[in-house]
Amino acid sequence: MSVEQPLVLGIETSCDETGVGIVRGEALLVDAVASSVDDHARFGGVVPEVASRAHLEEMVPTIERACREAGVQLRDLDAISVTSGPGLAGSLMVGVASAKALALSLGVPLYGVNHLASHVAVDIVEHGPLPQPTMALLVSGGHSSLLLVPDVTSDIRSLGSTIDDAAGEAFDKVARVLGLPFPGGPHIDRMAREGQVTIDFPRGLTAGRDMERHRFDFSFSGLKTAVSRWVQAKEAAGEPVPVADVAASFQEAVVDVLTRKAVLACREQGAENLQIGGGVAANSRLRAMAQSRCDAAGIELRVPRPGLCTDNGAMVAALGAQMVLKGRDASRLDLPADSSMPVTQVQN
Ligand code: KG4
Ligand code: ZN
Repeated sequence: MSVEQPLVLGIETSCDETGVGIVRGEALLVDAVASSVDDHARFGGVVPEVASRAHLEEMVPTIERACREAGVQLRDLDAISVTSGPGLAGSLMVGVASAKALALSLGVPLYGVNHLASHVAVDIVEHGPLPQPTMALLVSGGHSSLLLVPDVTSDIRSLGSTIDDAAGEAFDKVARVLGLPFPGGPHIDRMAREGQVTIDFPRGLTAGRDMERHRFDFSFSGLKTAVSRWVQAKEAAGEPVPVADVAASFQEAVVDVLTRKAVLACREQGAENLQIGGGVAANSRLRAMAQSRCDAAGIELRVPRPGLCTDNGAMVAALGAQMVLKGRDASRLDLPADSSMPVTQVQN
């Protein structure tokens, strides 16, 4: 294998995206994604059984498409990486089993890696090597975490995380209250651009004893309840619900808390960089507020393009290539699909 420029194929199947990405060293060659999100929309959330079956159908065509578009033959690959966890057990199993079959038949090493670490590592193929340490704010449908990352291949420390709903989950639930389709994040983002921040919704865990005890933790379930009550009160009074203004006000509250705590963490930990990843990092208001607060604090902000923030295979390939470049041991071929893999564990 070329140790300087390993050709790595990464497979992501932790939720409803079948993602296959190929990188050469720190260069992204292709990012092929097949999503089953439309199959889940009518249920208002991801249905695990439906997602697993969609991965089974999409896996081989997506691998073939990725290779074709990158101009790569399977036999050229130096290593395979795959999301080992966390995520939906049945979905993870499809990706892990496929990756094992590929690695075994090609005779190349296999790296079973953490989905959340991959959300951080993807920025390497977008903006170059990660500064050490990097502060990472990970905000997705399943997670909201502040991570201090001295080394994305071996050392990820959790400073705080959500104590109830994840940020993306809050977007999805509030979207449902507002009658917007699933997944709600992009719809709230779009609606909010047509509205004004007119309602002062609560910012959880940002003041007093809550802040002392949960300095870098997040809580969004109180905010979700506050939005529901506000909407119900309007409906009970027979008044129209100003959906765009509610969306803008809700989004402002989430983004205010996320960016405030992230910048505080950078200051206190002496990190000169903030990287934001996960599906919610696609949010336009989060990107704008993070930029202005980082500029004011002298912090360099790194956010991958929206397509690399939501789940994809490129992020898994990016982390796999880093594992090869750093000389980390490959995983064993009996590595598990680990649905509750802790964020601090990079590899299985
Ligand atoms: O990282 P991701 O693709 O999957 C998980 O690992 O969860 O994140 C999906 C989440 C969903 O909750 C979705 O509503 C949210 O990311 N999301 C957004 C936006 N785009 C996706 N939330 C807010 N604004 C967006 N533009
Ligand atoms: Zn994710």
